[in-house]
Amino acid sequence: MRINKYIAEAGICSRRKADELINNGNVKVNGITLKEPGYDVKEGDVVSVNGNVINPVEEKVYLALNKPLGYITSIKDQFDRPTVMDLVTDVEGRLFPVGRLDYNTTGLLIMTNDGDWAQKVAHPKHGQGKTYIAKINGFLTEGKLNRLRKGIDIGGFVTSPAEVEVMRELPKQTEVKITIHEGRYRQVRKMFKAVGTPVLELERVAIGDVKLGRLAVGGYRKLTKKEIESLSK
Ligand code: URA
Repeated sequence: MRINKYIAEAGICSRRKADELINNGNVKVNGITLKEPGYDVKEGDVVSVNGNVINPVEEKVYLALNKPLGYITSIKDQFDRPTVMDLVTDVEGRLFPVGRLDYNTTGLLIMTNDGDWAQKVAHPKHGQGKTYIAKINGFLTEGKLNRLRKGIDIGGFVTSPAEVEVMRELPKQTEVKITIHEGRYRQVRKMFKAVGTPVLELERVAIGDVKLGRLAVGGYRKLTKKEIESLSK
């Protein structure tokens, strides 16, 4: 990449201003003052402007990952258990998860290296619905369904209205689809526990317009431009 573009993309100044800096002898490459305004920056070059080393902007990465059971949603685990970071092996840049899923929850997790975007997505004001398929022990009466839908006390916090739909009744269990609009710690598990039907299995299948679809367990894909915009709007 041409030196003036490299400096501009690192967010230092415009390309034209970068040319001025070069002409004024303010730019060094590998410790030597640059004389050539048309220099092409090579891999491994250390570029400094006014004595400060600059870093090129990382390409922004936005991924949808299908988290398997038994993975921790964090960058590191104090007990050395596998983390979701172990699953993303061929992407450059320092990714981090947006939001979290429990150790025993599977499904859709967003990962990115774009801190500003992640902050917007996580902000309660955006309130993206998060949809889960829960397998619960027992059955939901109309009364229990209504309590879950209206908002329920999960220990010092009353949940906001949720969409809850029974998908399938098994001999002793029920499969339920639930969409919540907040993300309290273990919220879905606490909601079902509060009505006496504890969660046995939990999978997140959508966040706003982003769907898990047929993504393989442990696999990931890039979000589309439309998906990236929809999550932060
Ligand atoms: N609610 C839960 O209880 N667990 C999760 O992982 C996500 C939402």
